[in-house]
Amino acid sequence: MKILGISGSLRRDSYNTKLLRAAEELLPAGVELDIYSGLKAIPPYDEEDDVQPAPPAVADLREAIAKADAVLFATPEYNASIPGQLKNALDWASRPVATNVLRSKPVAVVGASTGAFGAVWSQAELRKVLGTIGARVVEGDVAVGHAPTRFDSEGTLVDEDLREQLEGVVEGLLAELPAAELVCA
Ligand SMILES: Cc1cc2nc3c(=O)[nH]c(=O)nc-3n(C[C@H](O)[C@H](O)[C@H](O)COP(=O)(O)O)c2cc1C
Repeated sequence: MKILGISGSLRRDSYNTKLLRAAEELLPAGVELDIYSGLKAIPPYDEEDDVQPAPPAVADLREAIAKADAVLFATPEYNASIPGQLKNALDWASRPVATNVLRSKPVAVVGASTGAFGAVWSQAELRKVLGTIGARVVEGDVAVGHAPTRFDSEGTLVDEDLREQLEGVVEGLLAELPAAELVCA
């Protein structure tokens, strides 16, 4: 069984990408998490370009989501909202409306920021957008505030409370999947 991890940050040393790696460590045997690496290549959404065949980077994103059993998002907060490139990618993923690759897909949202509040506004915004697109948004969040103090120099999440919260969100996401998929994985 495959979970796709999408970090809303393009930064190499992103705390949100580290948070996805921390989630990967919590997965049971038979469940893999692949972190999406193509976000930066996605062009600005233009309805005139939203034709078949889709731009290659967009086709790649849609295929990665379609092949995943669930998607875990980790988002920073930029000016109290979602980073523009993440929103842009979701706009591409949301089309065509009736058959978009996120429709009914189990998704969960976590987030990290260098400030005190751990991207809570951004996480709320992202849940709203994902719900609008038609994804099955799992309850629960993980707000990693003061991110530089929560990871060690190896990038490991060292805060036990946050690890437990992350485990809860991952379990909630896995619970959305049919038991048969977990057994077969
Ligand atoms: C353009 C920009 C806007 C930001 N706005 C916020 C904000 O509104 N709230 C907040 O908590 N942090 C804000 N930050 C700080 C981010 O939380 C911080 O850069 C974080 O580490 C980004 O996540 P990353 O480590 O995954 O790249 C902002 C950073 C940038 C670059």
